[in-house]
Amino acid sequence: MSTSDRKHWNRREFTAATIAAGMAGQAGAVPAAVKTSERPAAARRVRTGVIGCGSVSNAYLPVLTQSPFVEVVSLCDIRHERARKQSEKFRIAHHYPSIEAMLAGEPFEFLVDLTDMQEHEKVNRRALEAGKHVWSEKPIANSLAAGQALLRLAAENRLRIWGAPITPLSPQFAFMASAIQRGTLGRIAAAHADYGHEGPNWSSFFYEKGGGSMPDLAVYNLTSLTGILGPVRTVTAMLSIVTPHRDIQEKGRIEVTEEDNAMLLLDHGNGVISHVQSGFNYFNPHGHVGKEEQRHTISIVGSRGYMGLIGYDWEPQGVDLATHDRPRLERHVTDANGYVWQQGAALAAESLVTDRELLITPEHALHVLEIITAARASSSNGTHVKLQSTFRWPLVGP
Ligand SMILES: NC(=O)c1ccc[n+]([C@@H]2O[C@H](COP(=O)([O-])OP(=O)(O)OC[C@H]3O[C@@H](n4cnc5c(N)ncnc54)[C@H](O)[C@@H]3O)[C@@H](O)[C@H]2O)c1
Repeated sequence: MSTSDRKHWNRREFTAATIAAGMAGQAGAVPAAVKTSERPAAARRVRTGVIGCGSVSNAYLPVLTQSPFVEVVSLCDIRHERARKQSEKFRIAHHYPSIEAMLAGEPFEFLVDLTDMQEHEKVNRRALEAGKHVWSEKPIANSLAAGQALLRLAAENRLRIWGAPITPLSPQFAFMASAIQRGTLGRIAAAHADYGHEGPNWSSFFYEKGGGSMPDLAVYNLTSLTGILGPVRTVTAMLSIVTPHRDIQEKGRIEVTEEDNAMLLLDHGNGVISHVQSGFNYFNPHGHVGKEEQRHTISIVGSRGYMGLIGYDWEPQGVDLATHDRPRLERHVTDANGYVWQQGAALAAESLVTDRELLITPEHALHVLEIITAARASSSNGTHVKLQSTFRWPLVGP
């Protein structure tokens, strides 16, 4: 089925399905506000294989194994012990030490790729070649050209590919994006977004070529700001390495060869300029616990208003809004409405069953990837870098 034949979510269906497929597992129960009658019936479960059984698999597997649209049939990790352990914990029947063994083993139709950032391109290509739909953690590929080749390969084989993050699916994103579309802030001028912590210590790939704070952290803000303000035309950036060596669990001391400190200026056209910063050297008392963060991590200002997102865009807590007519900050959308950052693969499986499109698109993910590679070029050459890619925008109406 082509993309244009497929239905799109309306808000009520989206909310119900998001909650139904969402983090019942994390909280232990579906939120009481959701009536059973609103939960979509699953016509079938998508046979799913998960590759990469490290840190983030602990967030994905509870959602996937509780989704009525998913049957996780196999796990894979080149560190086979990890796949074996997760298969015991989540009661998955099959586990494999390589993608080739996985593809030759228990049949499945949908691959969830949670491997190292630099591995995604290769793993995603192999899965598409083998006829599997793909959900990929970020980034989908290592370059725009390679990512576009993956999208062509998927289209030629009538397969789907999606990539994290899913920040545009939160109700707070919807509130901000439609306020911009309605003109609530007047003429938009500028935006700022930031995300950082002291850096992961469990794997070295975060600090190696193709890694860095941009594809790991800034990717969320870049997805949100381009989703709200529109595609970017030109990127200017300065990147640096603040901590040249790191101590990594089970590996010891490594040299940091990719940025751990990034500042990007983005020209969205029509005079709108935004600024995104990310880094692995940011004091952050909350670590990875998103709900503890109460700062405005995204702020947008226009001629008649200001809007600030409370907390991180991947786990937002609400939106503060002040306008010319109501100049004191007022708080809105404090309810997540079932949205959780780790539900993207479950929603993609649901989309395979229901033919309902998600708001997130691989074209948007590739545009964000191009911003990241353009920022690396800008920083090393001292130039403004023009972008080639774009995506369907706006994502939401007024
Ligand atoms: N850890 C988090 O909280 C988190 C949150 C959001 C997104 N992510 C993203 O998830 C991805 C994985 O991160 P992580 O923190 O889980 O890393 P990790 O190092 O803990 O896990 C990655 C796993 O993939 C395995 N692997 C690598 N190459 C493989 C291959 N070719 N075939 C099979 N297995 C392979 C590794 O052995 C490892 O167990 C990254 O893209 C990261 O940016 C992580």
